[in-house]
Amino acid sequence: MPRTRSQAPVQPTIPFPRRRSCRSALQPKTLQSSNATEAKPPISPRRTDRPSPLSPVRGAATQSRLPSPPSLLPRRPAAQNPPPTPPCSPNQQARLPLSPRKRTGDDNGCNVPCSPPKLNRPSLASPRKLGFDENQPASSGPLKLTPPCQRRSPHRQETPPGSPVLNNPEKKPPAVRLFADKSRFQSVKQALHTAMPERLLSREEEQASIRSFLQDKVLQNVPASLYISGAPGTGKTACLNCILQEMKAELAAVKTLVVNCMTLRSSHAIFRLLAQQLKTSGGQSGLQRFLTAPGPTVLLVLDEMDQLDSKAQDVLYTIFEWPYLPRSRLCLIGIANALDLTDRILPRLQAQPHCRPLLLHFPPYSRQELATIIQDRLLKASAEGMLDSSAVQFCARKVSAVSGDARKALDICRRAVEAAEAAERQKTSNQSGEAKVGLPQVVRVLSEVYGDRMASQSGAEGESFPLQQKLLVCCLLLVIRSGKSREVHLGKLHEVYSRLCSQRQVSAVGQGECLALCELLESRGIFALKKNKEARLTKVFLKIEEKDVENALKDRTLLGSILAAGLPS
Ligand SMILES: Nc1ncnc2c1ncn2[C@@H]1O[C@H](COP(=O)(O)OP(=O)(O)OP(=O)(O)O)[C@@H](O)[C@H]1O
Ligand SMILES: [Mg+2]
Repeated sequence: MPRTRSQAPVQPTIPFPRRRSCRSALQPKTLQSSNATEAKPPISPRRTDRPSPLSPVRGAATQSRLPSPPSLLPRRPAAQNPPPTPPCSPNQQARLPLSPRKRTGDDNGCNVPCSPPKLNRPSLASPRKLGFDENQPASSGPLKLTPPCQRRSPHRQETPPGSPVLNNPEKKPPAVRLFADKSRFQSVKQALHTAMPERLLSREEEQASIRSFLQDKVLQNVPASLYISGAPGTGKTACLNCILQEMKAELAAVKTLVVNCMTLRSSHAIFRLLAQQLKTSGGQSGLQRFLTAPGPTVLLVLDEMDQLDSKAQDVLYTIFEWPYLPRSRLCLIGIANALDLTDRILPRLQAQPHCRPLLLHFPPYSRQELATIIQDRLLKASAEGMLDSSAVQFCARKVSAVSGDARKALDICRRAVEAAEAAERQKTSNQSGEAKVGLPQVVRVLSEVYGDRMASQSGAEGESFPLQQKLLVCCLLLVIRSGKSREVHLGKLHEVYSRLCSQRQVSAVGQGECLALCELLESRGIFALKKNKEARLTKVFLKIEEKDVENALKDRTLLGSILAAGLPS
C-alpha cells in the first residue's frame, strides 16, 4: 500500500465535487506570442520553508514526518512597494481557454481578455464557494474603455476650462456631476475586474519558478512535469497565462496546448480532445505513439486538472506518466487546488520516483498583498480616492482571514462600488458632494458575502493562514483530544467552533461555509474529509500529526491559548 502524506487512509478519489460545463467545450489554443527575457531561477529540491520554488515531490519515506505545508510557512514580506511587473495583458489578444464556470472579461463588466471569475457551484461543498453568489452580474451593461482623460461630458464643452464649476464637484450642475460620477464609477468597476490582470503583484517567486521550468525543461526539450497547486483566487491561472504570453516568441517552436479541464464532459474526453488538437488518431495508444515519435516538444497545460478524476485515477496516471515514456517529447503542467493531488491522490506516482512531478504551491494572499492588489487597480483607474483606504484595508483583512482569495477581494470591492453608485443615483439633484465608497459599503457587501461574522474578526499582519481556518484546526484538535475518535462529524466540529468564536468574540461562519473552509484545509493537506450527502455528517480528520499542527499554523500563541483553555463551554 503506498503511503500518503500523513499515513492517513488513502482517499481513493479526488475529493472535489465535479463542476460541469454548461458551455460548449472551449478549444485549446496553440500559443503564439511575444518575447520575454528573465533571469533563470534554479529549480531546487522541494523546500518546506518557502512556498514557491519548484521542487520534486517528496519521497514516500519523507511523508510520514510531514513538515508544515509550504503555504503555511512565513511568506516573504508582502509587497509594500512591489517591483514593477511587466504588464502581462496588453498583448494578450489570444484568448486563453476559460472555464465554463468563469465569466469572461466582458461579462465581468470589462473588456479585458481572459477573465476567470468563478461561478457558483451547486453545492456548498466547494472550497471556492463561501456563500457568495459570484454569478450575479457585476454591472448592468458593457463598459466603454475610454481612458478617463479622454472622456468628455457634453456639458463640459460648454463650460470654459478652468471654470470653478469643473474643478469643484459641489458646484457642478447636477447633470454634469451625475455624468462624471457615472464614468468614474464605471472606470473603477472596470479596474476591479477579476479577468486576466495587466500586472500581477506579489507573485514574483512563483512566476520565476514557472519561467525556470519553461526555460530549463520545455525549451531544452527535456520531458518533465510540473504540478501547480493553490486555493482558489491565488493567481495560478493568471500567472501561468501571463508567462505563456510573455514567452510566446521563445515558445514558438513548441507545440503548446492549454486545456481547461472543466470544459470536458468526462475525464476520458481529454484523450479525444488532445488527439483532435494534435491531429492524431488511435485513441490513447495513438496519443502515446505521437508523443514518443520524433517531433517538436509538446507543452500540455491542464488547468483545473482535478476534473480528470476517474475510477482508479487511470486518466491522471496515464497523463502524468506520458512525459516519462522512453523518447517522450511531452512537458506537462497541471494546475489544481489540492496541495497534494500528486502524492495523496496518485500514490502510484510515489512508487515511480522518476515520474514525480515538480511541485509549485501558491499560498493564499496575505492582507497586505490583497490590499496592494486592490490599490494597484485603483491607481490604474486613477481612482485611489474613490475607495477609502480604510475600506480597502478592511476588505483585505477580512478576505485574508477567510481564504486569501484575490478574486473574492476584488469582487467585494467592485460590489461596494456598485452599491455606492446605486446610492448616488438615488440622490436628489440638490444633494451634492463627490461620490465615495467607504467602509459602510464594504461592510455591507462583506456581510452579504460572508454574513455578519465578518464584523469583528481580525486578521494578523502578514497573515498567510486565514484566521477562520486556524480556528477550525484548533477546534478539531480540541475535539480529537477530548474524545476517542480521530474522526469528527462536521456538525460537531461546527458546534465547537461556533462556541469558540463566541468565546473569543470572533464572528463564526455557518455550517455550509465551515465545510468550504474544511475543504480549503484539505487542499492545504491539513484536513481530510469523508463526504456525506448530509453536510453535518461529513467526517473530518487531521491529515498531519498533532505535533505538526503548531508548525502548520505558525501561531503558537493562538494555538497554545485555545488548547490551554480546553473545549469552549
Ligand atoms: N497577483 C495578482 N495581481 C493582480 N490580480 C490578481 C493576482 N492574483 C489574482 N488576481 C486576480 O484574481 C483573478 C483570479 O486569479 P486566478 O484565476 O489566477 O486564480 P486561480 O488561482 O487560478 O484560481 P482557481 O483555483 O479558482 O482557478 C485574476 O484573474 C486576477 O484578476
Ligand atoms: Mg485557475
